[in-house]
Amino acid sequence: MTEPLIFEISSPGRVGASLPELDVPEAEIPAEWVRDDLALPEVAEVDVVRHFVRLSQMNYGVDVGFYPLGSCTMKYNPKVNEVAARLPGFAHIHPLQDPDTVQGAMALMYELQRYLAEIGGFAAVTLQPSAGAHGELTGVLIMRKYLYDRGETQRTKILVPDSAHGTNPASTTMSGLEVVEIPSDDRGNVDLEALKAHLDDTVVGLMLTNPNTLGLFDEHLLEVTRLVHEAGGLVYGDGANFNAILGICKPGEMGFDVLHYNLHKTFSTPHGGGGPGSGPVGVVEELAPYLPGPIVDQEMTDEGPRYVWRTPERSIGRVKSFWGNFGVMIRAYTYIRMLGAEGLRAVAENAVINANYLEARLKDVYPVPYGHRTCMHEFVAQGKIEGAPDVRAVDICKRLIDYGFHPPTMYFPLIVHEALMIEPTETESKDTLDAFVDAMLKIAEEARSDPELLHTAPHNTPVRRLDEVRAARHPVLRYRPQRYE
Ligand SMILES: Cc1ncc(COP(=O)(O)O)c(C=O)c1O
Repeated sequence: MTEPLIFEISSPGRVGASLPELDVPEAEIPAEWVRDDLALPEVAEVDVVRHFVRLSQMNYGVDVGFYPLGSCTMKYNPKVNEVAARLPGFAHIHPLQDPDTVQGAMALMYELQRYLAEIGGFAAVTLQPSAGAHGELTGVLIMRKYLYDRGETQRTKILVPDSAHGTNPASTTMSGLEVVEIPSDDRGNVDLEALKAHLDDTVVGLMLTNPNTLGLFDEHLLEVTRLVHEAGGLVYGDGANFNAILGICKPGEMGFDVLHYNLHKTFSTPHGGGGPGSGPVGVVEELAPYLPGPIVDQEMTDEGPRYVWRTPERSIGRVKSFWGNFGVMIRAYTYIRMLGAEGLRAVAENAVINANYLEARLKDVYPVPYGHRTCMHEFVAQGKIEGAPDVRAVDICKRLIDYGFHPPTMYFPLIVHEALMIEPTETESKDTLDAFVDAMLKIAEEARSDPELLHTAPHNTPVRRLDEVRAARHPVLRYRPQRYE
């Protein structure tokens, strides 16, 4: 850190606020309310402004540069979404208001439920879950309750492919069900023989990401969903990769019974750093009575439509306080309305073209184990460079930071050794993609000629290589200057 932090420039008696002369009598503050042991910095207004602006400049975000973080869909988020989310009529309402006073907000939620149902090919949608993982838990609980209502309480297993995101087994386990891992075949599909071997009357269903985390559309998808249904199970769709198929095909028409949408990925809410997100869940007709409630319903009156809260009759119950993350819903609604049906399809087409362009330009230098067929919106290369045996994916990623790019997702999915999962998204120009390729190819040359440069990267960041495991296990969330220790 080159500049001193705000605590270090604290100077006794310096203040950052100028208050006008008192024009009322000074109040007596009870002594027990006053503390003098608070470690607050004493600084001027300009110090505060410079401190926070400097911190903000240390941040990397999608508004600063290319962010090809596979599986996360770090697309540019149009600013019109922010304008809509800040409209006072939306921003200043309270979740406990009488429904008659928030009909506009409820209409937006109702329309968004309908749009998502249409996009996904589902009968009904709940907007309650606040992230993809939360949607997974909701979906699995719906599947379980539906089957248990039919007396099939012996069904206790969820099949999860080995390419799945870690939240899939985690949310299954949280629901009280057992996870059974299904291997992928050598083309990156669900291994059909392994699937068949596990399908019996103990299976609640299959949790499938399509396209999967290798960026590949399952070539036997219809057969996979048919086999699960024939065994009496249900198919859950992890919709994190919806960006690849938006407006082109509908999961509900391909055999998925339940699916979560990640509004903060596909439908353009800024994310990273933990939220807020939104993971609505869509279901087929038979599962609609099990959705968490309340959802927004429409009643026709003589004065026109009226929006009401309704809890479906066999609901699994609430999964979120109040009505979900409304601000994220406004952004998704605005995004969908701005693009329209054709625009949404163009999103997917461009996301897929961009990923295939990058893959084609990089794969001779960075091997792509499942690269023998067209990828969808992302692909998984390997951080293994010929002639540079000591260089690993992490070194390449750290060096990319020196070139001004956010690194791709690394070491995931687990089935690819030294994985570099690259998702360019549709919002990047060919110029940006070419600049990224240039950096990746330059890094490959450096790896051969001067591997130490990569091992010690990054070189120009405020902090260098961090112990990420320790940071996650023992986070220090509050900076304390030494003089207050
Ligand atoms: C494939 C996949 N599934 C599920 C999730 C979980 O979504 P969320 O982060 O919204 O909980 C992610 C998140 O990155 C993902 O990439």
